[in-house]
Amino acid sequence: PVLVIDYGAQYAQLIARRVREARVYSEVVPHTMPAADILAKNPAAIILSGGPSSVYADGAPRLEADLVNSGVPVLGICYGFQAMAQALGGEVGQTGQREYGSTTASSPDGGLLLEGTGESQQVWMSHGDAVARAPEGFTVLASSPGAPIAAFEDAERRLFGVQWHPEVKHSVAGQQVLENFLYRGAGLAPDWTPENVIADQVKKIREQVGDARVICGLSGGVDSSVAAALVQEAVGNQLTCVFVDHGLLRAGEREQVERDFVAATGVDLITVDASQRFLTALAGVTDPEAKRKIIGREFIRVFEDAAREVVARAGAHGEDVKFLVQGTLYPDVVESGGGEGAANIKSHHNVGGLPDDLQFELVEPLRELFKDEVRQVGLELGVPEAIVWRQPFPGPGLGIRIIGEVTAERLEVLRAADAIVRKELTAAGLDRDIWQCPVVLLADVRSVGVQGDGRTYGHPVVLRPVSSEDAMTADWSRLPYDLLAHISNRITNEVADVNRVVLDVTSKPPGTIEWE
Ligand code: XMP
Repeated sequence: PVLVIDYGAQYAQLIARRVREARVYSEVVPHTMPAADILAKNPAAIILSGGPSSVYADGAPRLEADLVNSGVPVLGICYGFQAMAQALGGEVGQTGQREYGSTTASSPDGGLLLEGTGESQQVWMSHGDAVARAPEGFTVLASSPGAPIAAFEDAERRLFGVQWHPEVKHSVAGQQVLENFLYRGAGLAPDWTPENVIADQVKKIREQVGDARVICGLSGGVDSSVAAALVQEAVGNQLTCVFVDHGLLRAGEREQVERDFVAATGVDLITVDASQRFLTALAGVTDPEAKRKIIGREFIRVFEDAAREVVARAGAHGEDVKFLVQGTLYPDVVESGGGEGAANIKSHHNVGGLPDDLQFELVEPLRELFKDEVRQVGLELGVPEAIVWRQPFPGPGLGIRIIGEVTAERLEVLRAADAIVRKELTAAGLDRDIWQCPVVLLADVRSVGVQGDGRTYGHPVVLRPVSSEDAMTADWSRLPYDLLAHISNRITNEVADVNRVVLDVTSKPPGTIEWE
């Protein structure tokens, strides 16, 4: 792999993604990992990320010279660039002046690293210190107003560095710089493709599970579907999927799993229709946290029952169900402790919520993938596009989009309104522009309206379209007025009981995306 050494800013994951966009496999490792351990992973190249520190700060992460003298091609970025200069005998000066944001780097002689990026380029900077003298053997390639030495290389030793951040889009030729490093500097081939990812995972899954049986909970979302499709590809005859219909799904979602997903992948599927059980458990409950707890609890119990059945059935054939598939993604792995160590400890032990006598080892075929890669793999495996591109939908489903008690009638109303919204957003071509658009039924609020000649006393429905990168923060999406008008007309005309449509114009924070 290409190893991205994380110096503690938020850039390392982004760098890894950009490297993979260049179709080269990369992983993030913490800067605390000793050079010997990093080199033991046999990196094809190393990228030193940016970081918040000054190389002069007390406790600033150090770069072991072994790493840059190992013969492995290295690209230093921002902090990594300075740390590299320092480790190789160059000089880093405390300029006392910060250069932050977009600026221009001029690079009359771009060398290998900047080839094809022009004589000057718009770059994005964020640094205080600056390299004052390049180490011996290095050629200076670029300068900017705040960094006289803004890029350098020693092409012979395959060592490169840039002061700016090529991984952010504001650095216009950033991807070109990364690709120059990967393809030409390190001589790597762009072979990290969905086909190769699948071949690789199929092999790993087969090695891990042997001939044991595997169980997988399907939710209808992207991650569990693609994870299941991969396991199906690897050991199809040993996999049983369980889909719990808690009755809080949106229109068509059950069919999407039962009919379209099964047809596309051929998985063996057990659907448990538990809607009545959930409705009974939710009767009279209005508190959001209480609803969430009840839904979570019932879900795990229903899944547990289904899993027991799968185990019993396998047992009757003398087989053992040893594994449970989980759609853990790479960002979760990195965030839950960086390296493999921490996250592995979690996965070898169990899955939260299941009782002790029903413990499985985890199969996590998406552990190395970012979301966009999961989608590519899904498409390659023939998972239906409606699932591959499905927007986020919360586990508790429509249960937390009915403000007030959840009843069968209210679910019908919300499902109808939601179906109209989704259909119209799709027709307007906006599915991939907005992050998601919860539709919320204010079931305990009534408002007066007029329809035909009559007075109505119905419920408002809230549209909550949001734009976001990661759901941690969000802004309300500026949907076209005509589209909003059309959606509003359709809902008030077609959905009985709804006589008002309102738009949520709150960002997150302060509002969360969901209302409950
Ligand atoms: P909030 O409302 O916290 O939502 O801004 C952030 C993102 O998480 C989704 N969400 C959930 N997803 N189980 C899930 O799987 C949940 O209980 C849950 N609650 C919120 C929400 O749709 C949004 O994308």
